[in-house]
Order: sequence, then structure tokens, then C-alpha cells
Amino acid sequence: MIDETNLPKHIAIIMDGNGRWAKLKGKNRVFGHRNGTEAVHKVVEAAARMQIEHLTLYAFSTENWNRPQQEVSTLMDLLIRALRRELNKMVKNNIQLKSIGDISKLPTEVEKELIDTINKTRDNDGMILTLALNYGARQELTQAMQQIASKVKNNIISPENVDETIINKHLYTQNLPSVDLLIRTSGEQRISNFLLWQIAYAELYFSEVLWPDFNEKHFEEAITSYQKRERRFGKTSEQLIS
Ligand code: FPP
Repeated sequence: MIDETNLPKHIAIIMDGNGRWAKLKGKNRVFGHRNGTEAVHKVVEAAARMQIEHLTLYAFSTENWNRPQQEVSTLMDLLIRALRRELNKMVKNNIQLKSIGDISKLPTEVEKELIDTINKTRDNDGMILTLALNYGARQELTQAMQQIASKVKNNIISPENVDETIINKHLYTQNLPSVDLLIRTSGEQRISNFLLWQIAYAELYFSEVLWPDFNEKHFEEAITSYQKRERRFGKTSEQLIS
């Protein structure tokens, strides 16, 4: 049973295993991504219903451009269609859409649809759903450092004042809280350049389930596992009790 008084405020998911799921069924990778979109739909609905405040999904990394051209264009196409299809449901479920990553490098049509959906959901004050698109944590940190260095050079910030708050303000995630629970599906146990700064104290949960099969039950299992853990943030158990 989920304890509603101890929900992770921010859940991030590395949705992995679409390709292997399709291969197991004797189909091509595109079939896996299409079914992966259905899993996105289920998990977003479940998270909104459970009143999770922030859900962040790794939809397309800076490294994903290296995939075969046809797979990249299918992913972009699926994204446009999902945005169009889900808009009404996002409005109905009071979900606000955001994105992180350099979206200016996405195909124009995707960027346009994304900005349009973000604008149409901007007054919703329920769950914040953030899509990581053309996102890479090293790229995010590099551009933050460049901006801060430039402000230091122009005497807008002094070097001694560069602290965690200033760094946070220069990240794509500037208005998001730190990640509490990071889920990765498909049995892989790595971070793959996702939210490196923001997961400093996240609980990690690795599921064997391939993403297209991941459903509400698996999502609840991840939250239940999170709720059994003791988050110490560097302190001792005894300190937490007192
Ligand atoms: C990883 O599986 C998945 C991706 C790189 C893309 C995730 C995209 C979706 C779930 C569909 C569209 C997204 C939204 C937000 C509507 P993989 O291809 O790396 O699988 P493999 O490791 O088994 O090859």
C-alpha cells in the first residue's frame, strides 16, 4: 500500500527497453517505441492520480541523435502525435507540461508543437510533467558554467558568490526540486547522462520490466520501495530519529 503522506515529490524515469521489447516479439524497434508511448500515457495518468508533484521523463538524449535516421524521425513523429493526442487529457487532468534540454535543435515542427502544448497548459497547477528532449546532463552543466563564467567576467556575479542556488538557477531544471526517486526500466543499472546534478540524493530504483510493459502496478511498486528506504542525506539513523 502506498503511504500518501510520504510520496516522492519529484520522480524521474529513464524509459529503457523499447527496442528489446520489440525484438522479443519479432518486430522492429519502431513498434517498441510506439508501444512505449502507451506506457508513457499509463504512467503519467497514474502519477497525476496519485498527486505526484513532478514527473520528469527522459524522452530523447543528446546521444540519441546517433541512432539510425529512420528511428530518430519516428521518435520525433511519435512525440508530435503524443503531444496532439494528450493535450486535452493534460488540460483535463490539470497537468502542466515543461521541457528540459536544447529544444532549438529539434525539428521545427516538434519544437513548435512542444512550445504550443507548453503554452496551452501553462495555467494548470496540478502535476508538472517535464520531458527531457535533446537533453544531456553534461551539456546542461556546460552551458550553465558558460553563462556563470560570462556573468563573472562582466562583474554581474563575483566568484565567491557562486553557490548551489546560483548554479541551480542556470540549469534547465531551475524551477524544479531535486529528484527524490529515479526509476530506470529494462534491467540496465546506469544513469546515462540524466540529471547528474539533480539526483545527488535521489533513491535509485531499477526495474527488470521493459518500458512498454511498465504499468501502474510497477510504478506503485517503485514508490513502495522508495517509502521503505531511510533517506539520511549524510546524517546517521540516530540523528534522524531525534
Ligand atoms: C529507450 O528504449 C527509449 C527511448 C530512447 C525513447 C523513449 C521514447 C518513448 C517511450 C516514446 C515517445 C515518448 C513520449 C514522451 C511520448 P531503447 O530504444 O533504448 O530500448 P533498447 O535499449 O531495448 O534498445
